[in-house]
Amino acid sequence: MSTPTPNNLTLIRPDDWHVHFRDDAILQAVVPYTASQFGRAIVMPNLMPPITSISAANSYRDRILAAVPEDISFDPLMTAYLTDTTDSNELAEGYEQGVFTAVKLYPANATTNSSHGVSDLHNVYGVLEKMQSIGMPLLIHGEVTDPTIDIFDREAVFIETILQPLIHDFRELRIVLEHVTTEEAVEFVTDRHASAPGKIGATITAHHLMINRTDIFRGGIRPHLYCLPIAKRERHRLALRKAAISGEGPFFLGTDTAPHSISAKESNCGCAGIFSSPVAMQAYAQVFDEENALEKLEDFASRNGPAFYGLPENEDTITLRRCERNSVDRVSVSGEDDVMPFLAEEGIIWSVN
Ligand code: DOR
Ligand code: ZN
Repeated sequence: MSTPTPNNLTLIRPDDWHVHFRDDAILQAVVPYTASQFGRAIVMPNLMPPITSISAANSYRDRILAAVPEDISFDPLMTAYLTDTTDSNELAEGYEQGVFTAVKLYPANATTNSSHGVSDLHNVYGVLEKMQSIGMPLLIHGEVTDPTIDIFDREAVFIETILQPLIHDFRELRIVLEHVTTEEAVEFVTDRHASAPGKIGATITAHHLMINRTDIFRGGIRPHLYCLPIAKRERHRLALRKAAISGEGPFFLGTDTAPHSISAKESNCGCAGIFSSPVAMQAYAQVFDEENALEKLEDFASRNGPAFYGLPENEDTITLRRCERNSVDRVSVSGEDDVMPFLAEEGIIWSVN
């Protein structure tokens, strides 16, 4: 006989270790969704131009805070965008001052707004030395950019050809492999964690736990399910689910919520990104519930991330409740097109307060 699953669940307030807030009107529209569920979020720096300096990070942080509703306490954790010419002193100073929590590595042209990314890791070896010596984490978009490599293989090839040599050269560097999508990534992170605990973490998005590559073409092409790294075969989705519900230290929550206007998504050349912040904890709760693992959600969402980043857990809580299927509305952006959230078609069966 299976044990009945609970209809509500109170958790230490979770954090989102990977978000895109953008800027201006879209930032105003999306920040309240993340701030209402999460205590903190790691904010991606891929603006145009990217966030590369302490002063740019400080003013971006102020703009984010100005968009947080008054009755909510929310702490955006800023990241620096690594380029071929990043000054290691600027990063170290920003880290020391508590302005930068981490550094984001985009291989040049891997994804949205990544043209300023790193063209060859050897160009930033001096910066990585410095980060290693001060314990500053490197957050990695782990995909090779070689157009001859099949898009579904780009993460696995990155791990073998870039990440393994990187770890060989920087054994003490603290790394988060962001938005993992493959069985190979799960295995790599699990093994690395076993041999060097605290040196590696991995974020997992809600959408990669819910969709596989076939879903992108279910009944027609679905641009709102296109993101990078792209969703993979079913066996990879199942490996991600197993990792997330394991409650094991290196795996933690990172939505990679990435809003683009509907016209930018539904286009001749649609942008990569899934906007999930309005349904973030609802979606993770649904996955953990389907796996009969709701008791592991707190480790994944609220404990493992702070433990990796050396931060305290949040002091307050949130409560998730099972509900009738609720619809998920488009989000309007002042003066621009709406943004389409993840699960807008399916609806959600959990609510958060
Ligand atoms: O799908 C994605 N969207 N993947 C990324 O890596 C970037 C993000 C964005 O900024 O839109
Ligand atoms: Zn991202």
